[in-house]
Amino acid sequence: MMDFEKVIDRNKTNSMKWDFYPDRYGADDLWPMWVADMDFQTPQPVLDAMQEVVNHGIFGYHRRPSSLFDATTGWLKKRFDWDVDNNQIVFTPGVVPAISHLIQTFTEEGDGVIIQPPVYYPFYALVQNNKRTLVRNPLKETEEGFTVDLEDLEKKMQAGAKMLLLCSPHNPIGRVWSEKELTEIAKLAETYNVFVVSDEIHADLILEGKHTPFAKVAADREVETMTCLAPSKTFNLASLQLSYVVFENSRSQKAYEAHLQREFVGIDNPFATVAAEAAYRHGEEWLESLLEYVRNNVRYVKEYIETNIPEMKVIEPEGTYLIWIDMRGLNKSDKELENWLRKNAKLALSEGHIFGEEGSGFVRINAACPRTTLEEGLKRLKKAYENA
Ligand SMILES: Cc1ncc(COP(=O)(O)O)c(C=O)c1O
Repeated sequence: MMDFEKVIDRNKTNSMKWDFYPDRYGADDLWPMWVADMDFQTPQPVLDAMQEVVNHGIFGYHRRPSSLFDATTGWLKKRFDWDVDNNQIVFTPGVVPAISHLIQTFTEEGDGVIIQPPVYYPFYALVQNNKRTLVRNPLKETEEGFTVDLEDLEKKMQAGAKMLLLCSPHNPIGRVWSEKELTEIAKLAETYNVFVVSDEIHADLILEGKHTPFAKVAADREVETMTCLAPSKTFNLASLQLSYVVFENSRSQKAYEAHLQREFVGIDNPFATVAAEAAYRHGEEWLESLLEYVRNNVRYVKEYIETNIPEMKVIEPEGTYLIWIDMRGLNKSDKELENWLRKNAKLALSEGHIFGEEGSGFVRINAACPRTTLEEGLKRLKKAYENA
């Protein structure tokens, strides 16, 4: 079993998080807590399967075998009690490109696409680069935490938006949407005939409660749902570029496949195939241990901040390994906070405003790392706070 305490040096491995942060943050002495990948090795069966491909040594053209489809649908059944047929799945080289292609296939230039900020920031570019109209349905902050503003969502749908990009579980705030919340969204999407693209890339990373696939909730309604999933966040395989879309409507699926063909998307690679298959077939025990480790890390961050930096507040995630921290108590503007985090605390973390103006005063840190890595980051934060 994996030792999650073990620190593996990622410097000089062309890691985006560790080697390339100076490009973004303008300094080379920061402690990286940004990019959503993990500082843990992928499970051993994945490494073994990839090693076998290396040993074979031939990397010619490759196709995804039916065993990968079987392993994928088997995983969805086991984890979410979700019955998905192999032929509902279309593999894609990443969730972000998949969403871009879904937007291109099912909407026209100028059409409204709804996002729910603060949200995973590439959603903005996905809508705007495709010349669609960005429609914002900001999350609502309540006494109990963040939730969907259904009243506002209805207004936006009524006004003619064509598509909703749902982030479920939600990055960066860590909400795992309840069946009730998803049902309300499905009802509205049905009434106003809105496509729902449900980005469920974090679905396996549930710390508290249960993930419900939106498509399951929408199954008995007339809602056109496309679900984006991947083993990449779950098993730390992001650079292998394997994800997939689950379709509920075969006509739409054909339209999407035709679009991918026109764009020449779809050269598969054998490392991704064997890694995904091994992860889905043999990675469950590893995943359960990972989740336990991340839960403890989240608890640690919460206690540390409550004890040492009471002006900050940890929004405990129900899902993902990302932690949303409320720093509004410091009374700093976006620019001041950014400078303070970089120059005083020497941290490279995700500043909240990049997820939308609603994220102003918040930051997102990544807890998928050995405890000592997390401790170093928090120590820097505490020191900067005490010296302020
Ligand atoms: C909500 C969400 N969608 C998509 C991605 C990235 O997906 P991919 O690397 O498959 O394009 C991320 C990565 O952080 C994410 O958080």
